[in-house]
Amino acid sequence: MKTVIVYGSKYGCTAQCAELLKERLSGEVELHNAAESGHISLQEYDQAVIGSPVYMGKILPQISRFCQAGKGTD
Ligand SMILES: Cc1cc2nc3c(=O)[nH]c(=O)nc-3n(C[C@H](O)[C@H](O)[C@H](O)COP(=O)(O)O)c2cc1C
Repeated sequence: MKTVIVYGSKYGCTAQCAELLKERLSGEVELHNAAESGHISLQEYDQAVIGSPVYMGKILPQISRFCQAGKGTD
């Protein structure tokens, strides 16, 4: 089972959560910060986990873009 975790984080809490999740998932797990990663092809993975904090009722823009375009910021 190959998993990708794509996350965004402003102050580090979501990054920590993503790291903890990576430690706990079995199989191959890749961790990507959407603000730093280039194109991420979801077809390479069996499952994907998307993580974002919420600020003023909205997820982070880079995660919103990723979900809309299916890729990270290039
Ligand atoms: C100014 C501000 C606004 C926030 N707005 C929301 C919100 O609308 N809804 C929510 O559930 N949490 C809100 N939070 C809580 C953050 O989403 C939460 O602290 C999150 O874990 C921060 O993640 P990060 O450290 O990865 O940036 C807010 C926090 C701050 C400081």
